[in-house]
Amino acid sequence: MRELPVLDVTAPSPSRGRAAPAAGSRVAEFVTDDVVMPRFHVWTLGCQMNHSDSEEMAGSLLAAGCSEAPDLATADLVVINSCAIREAAEQKVIGRMGVLQRLKDGNPRMRVVLTGCSVRADNGPELHRRYPAIDLFLRPDEEPELTARLGLAGATSPGALAAKGMGLLPMSRAAAVAHGSVARGSAVSAWLPVIYGCDKTCTYCIVPFSRGPERSRPFDDVLAEARALADSGVREVTLLGQNVNSYGHDLPVEPRFAGVDGTRTLGRALDLVGRPDFAALLRAIDGIRTSDGVPRIPRLRFVTSHPWDLTDRLIGAMAECPSVCEHLHLPVQSGDDGVLRRMGRQYTIDAYLRLVERLRAAIPGIALTTDVICGFSGEGDAAFEATLELLRQVRFDQVFAAAFSVRPGTPAARLPDDVLPAEKRGRLNALLELQEGIGLERNEAWVGRTTQVLVEVVREPRSHAHEPTEGEAVADATGTRVAGRNRQHKLVHLDGSADDVGRLVSVMIERAGPYALSGRRLD
Ligand code: SAM
Ligand code: SF4
Ligand code: F3S
Repeated sequence: MRELPVLDVTAPSPSRGRAAPAAGSRVAEFVTDDVVMPRFHVWTLGCQMNHSDSEEMAGSLLAAGCSEAPDLATADLVVINSCAIREAAEQKVIGRMGVLQRLKDGNPRMRVVLTGCSVRADNGPELHRRYPAIDLFLRPDEEPELTARLGLAGATSPGALAAKGMGLLPMSRAAAVAHGSVARGSAVSAWLPVIYGCDKTCTYCIVPFSRGPERSRPFDDVLAEARALADSGVREVTLLGQNVNSYGHDLPVEPRFAGVDGTRTLGRALDLVGRPDFAALLRAIDGIRTSDGVPRIPRLRFVTSHPWDLTDRLIGAMAECPSVCEHLHLPVQSGDDGVLRRMGRQYTIDAYLRLVERLRAAIPGIALTTDVICGFSGEGDAAFEATLELLRQVRFDQVFAAAFSVRPGTPAARLPDDVLPAEKRGRLNALLELQEGIGLERNEAWVGRTTQVLVEVVREPRSHAHEPTEGEAVADATGTRVAGRNRQHKLVHLDGSADDVGRLVSVMIERAGPYALSGRRLD
């Protein structure tokens, strides 16, 4: 096992006056009663995967005896879970280095850890220059080492995991779930990672470099976590992976998966027969039922699906499993085949449109959302117009768009970044304006319909009347507003109270905006 340098964040207890363990000593032997444990704050940027990882890191720190601080300024230990998808995401953290250094000058005990996608195997020296206030850098696959590397006892110490002969990430997750130490942000809606890393080669994307190759969690580990979530009363589970459709290709062949055929291509020659796939996983989680045969997790979602290997087996499972919600996030990135080719996306617009057709035929009323990159290398006016045309044709429910940001080290960094920044911004604005109109029309089609909303949050009552935006209706002077989502992932505002959080409520939709709906509850 490799030796881990340990950053000591514990301090001698003022009441007991006993010395903290020396820096560099092994952690598991620490008696945490004897030292003052740091108050920590986790600052999470980026996607759902990062938020899920942060729940695990926060849980491991709590399990080690630390307490949580509400903000950076009151923490002795700051863990920044970074995102590197675009330069702007990295700048958010780089821009805080001065503040963090001043906080450290005022609190000599304070330590700052940078984790997440900005930390890669290949950018070590550059990290110290870009992030001077950081004491410890951990790559995403090293995050389970957090408590150990801080000199804190923890359930997920690398030694314990290595002894079990399993990869750190999948194994640590199972251990954290078994110990009940995942600090979930919501009791209603839960993240459930099923596959780590990404084997795709989208030329613009840093994720495969940050998160490494694909590693599926064992089928039964995922099922056990889903069962535990059902037992704890969670109403909605979102399965996570950069490309969930790849799930299982790296797991062993087992007789119980003999029915899984090899129709997935995953873009390369893989022996997939008899290994679990994502369709089998969806069916198994949907199969966690009450004695009356009702899914114990009423809502099952997943992100993200790469269009390349979204199989008919998966579409069939989505259509047939009552818990799987009628929503799919299917990133298209561009409406132009030439751009898609340079992006390495491995599908054509024609293939994408046929997929949309199959999905809409199999799952009536399915909501589709997507991601688009504006101003990729070589994207001319005609290519951008093709993307607008695609949006008009598909009529997505929502589009997440961003200007292309060159990521050093990715294949696209060797292509000319030849769309001027002003042009990228102009295209982005034009695209968002078009989509706002489409989103509004699609949402207006909900007015007058009844829909089932899972209430997730209480909205603060407004003290004065305001012009409603985004489909939000004005609450009366005393009424509380709550918000949640329907199965199609539409955000819905309604009257309600904190007691409603976690409930499935029938709502008659009365107003619509481009990004949200509002309505009146019927029960
Ligand atoms: N795995 C997913 C997929 O297949 O699309 C999502 C990956 S990424 C976390 C989320 C989105 O960020 C991508 O869909 C893409 O639109 C955007 N993105 C990735 N790299 C980018 C870059 N260099 N510049 C701008 N946007 C980028
Ligand atoms: Fe990035 Fe492509 Fe992997 Fe998504 S599928 S994470 S866009 S490389
Ligand atoms: Fe960002 Fe990493 Fe997610 S780059 S979007 S946090 S996978």
